[in-house]
Amino acid sequence: MSVSLIIYLFASKYFIMKFTQNIICLLVLTIGSCGPLEKERKPLDTDLATDAHSYANFNEVRVNHILLDLETDFDKKTLSGWAELSISNYSEARELILDTRDLKIDSVKLDDESLTKYTLGEASDVFGQPLKISIQPTNKSVKVYYSTSPESAALQWLAPEQTFSKKHPFLFSQSQAILARSWVPCQDGPGVKFTYDAKIKTDPSLIALMSAENKTEKSSDGIYTFQMTQPISSYLLAITIGDLDYQSTGRNSGVFAEPDMLAKSVWELQSMQSMIDSAEQLYGQYAWEQYDVVILPPSFPFGGMENPRLTFATPTIIAGDRSLVSLIAHELAHSWSGNLVTNETWNDFWLNEGFTVYFEQRIMEKIFGKPYEEMLTKLGMGDLVNTISELEEEGKSADTHLYLDLEGRDPDDGLTDVAYEKGRFFLQVVENEVGRERFDAFLKDYFDKNKFNPMSTTEFIDQLYSNLLQTDEERLAVDAESWIFGPGLPENVPVPFSKELDRVEEDIAKFDHNLIDASQIDTGGYTTHHWLYLLRGLKKMTPEKMSEMDKAYKLSETGNSEIACDWFKHAIEQNYKPAYPYMEEFLIRVGRRKFLSPLYERLAQTEDNKKWALEVYKKARPGYHAVSYNSIGEILEL
Ligand code: BES
Ligand code: ZN
Repeated sequence: MSVSLIIYLFASKYFIMKFTQNIICLLVLTIGSCGPLEKERKPLDTDLATDAHSYANFNEVRVNHILLDLETDFDKKTLSGWAELSISNYSEARELILDTRDLKIDSVKLDDESLTKYTLGEASDVFGQPLKISIQPTNKSVKVYYSTSPESAALQWLAPEQTFSKKHPFLFSQSQAILARSWVPCQDGPGVKFTYDAKIKTDPSLIALMSAENKTEKSSDGIYTFQMTQPISSYLLAITIGDLDYQSTGRNSGVFAEPDMLAKSVWELQSMQSMIDSAEQLYGQYAWEQYDVVILPPSFPFGGMENPRLTFATPTIIAGDRSLVSLIAHELAHSWSGNLVTNETWNDFWLNEGFTVYFEQRIMEKIFGKPYEEMLTKLGMGDLVNTISELEEEGKSADTHLYLDLEGRDPDDGLTDVAYEKGRFFLQVVENEVGRERFDAFLKDYFDKNKFNPMSTTEFIDQLYSNLLQTDEERLAVDAESWIFGPGLPENVPVPFSKELDRVEEDIAKFDHNLIDASQIDTGGYTTHHWLYLLRGLKKMTPEKMSEMDKAYKLSETGNSEIACDWFKHAIEQNYKPAYPYMEEFLIRVGRRKFLSPLYERLAQTEDNKKWALEVYKKARPGYHAVSYNSIGEILEL
């Protein structure tokens, strides 16, 4: 197929989509419910894209507010109480369909008065069960009395031993992508936005925090109330409960952590307030008033999660040298890209993550300078190239497109470096074409115009073309269609450059060709990122070389989780046994999936290693969150 034919096919596919959309809008316009006021009326509109990952009938009845009243039981590992959902029924619907997963439903009331009939549909492992509630067109609310299961996929209930202090139990949630339904019955698709209030009752020795306005001190009766007055999507519903103290880090920022971790965490995250200030200078006012971070126990399955007003973070970023704080820049950036302007479905996930990585790098450049940003960008490109070739090898070329087709699949499948890094490099191409000043003005306006609304890929292209790339020449140069609807990396992909890492590149070549030994690698002034580039670049490792390196740099014992993970990958490939006890400790202590998956994948490749991995997994699994043990279970074919 010729290049021009491919371009033509993408362009025409896009054109047909837009055309159909316009026709639909025209039709709806004539019957009077879609039009120029669309933007302001979005929450009540009927025009959300269908969501393959939600059972909810949100285009008929829309939830616009949730009131939660829940009590925790750490012994039974349950939350129980009720959720009252305010609804707007704009199609005289007689049924409200909510998403649930492993919830025990006790009863459902309409308008807080009369009990009503409901049924739970067939259960799917990934999508849970639709809860179908009989309603009348005049009903304004439904109240669901329920409790969660100890197996709730979002919640992790930790025993005191799994915390830093080992004194108190701990609870945290992880709702993204479609796990909110396992602790709150809701319309669990990112396009639906609602405000919420909550009352949580827990043990008075613990503090409860949510993705909402938080108190910073414990209450004597263990009762906490919350308000989130700005509309959010269900995947941003979040709760954590534990023995946590607070320290402010500036005008509108602060850190929650277990008491013995707090000082270290505050030191590490010292740049938080300046990150907020820089972000505001770039793309406009921070919309959520307060920005706090909570440092969770090490079993948290992600690096960070952008819960509004309260980012959840892994303690593995507390490295002792402030070298992993770009993760906070990332989660903060989501306060614009994601939390304000939200991917309408999980197929549009790149709109959340690609924009956020781009924004993250801009914050990092502003605070730590261009050479630092260049290192991050070059490492990002390395990850992306590897991910794309792996996906191609596995015959999953379609997963290298920015716009995904995740129908019938767990949206987790879309969570690859493609959304993050290919998304970011695409935006870099746009910046390079129009210049930074014009691009920044476009982005600032994009966040402002679309705030508190969902965004689809086609709507984004529409706005990009109407507000930024107005000439054919610019559109051709950027080639958005190939980036978004095509595989791999288009020809105009930027080539990252980093003088800092060129220095490492030279050492890699010498070490791989045995021209120098480990102790002669010029590691003076190495930061975490130099080490990562070195470890990822070394292609001719041997057990002897590993032993040399270990002697010179004590890499098996490193306290830096990113470096440890890359070192252990070599250890598995070279069967370098001295690292195994350290790796075992790491696999048991840390529950962050980004580290676990690549290690278990490599271990699963030989019989001996797989046997060892199964033994380790047996010990580690009780400490993993469902997000991690489900993925690792698959890798180990359990
Ligand atoms: N929102 C994501 C985490 C996520 C994505 C959870 C999809 C579930 C489904 C978060 O912002 C994120 O990207 N975290 C990264 C860190 C980041 C610096 C790339 C992580 O956890 O590693
Ligand atoms: Zn992210």
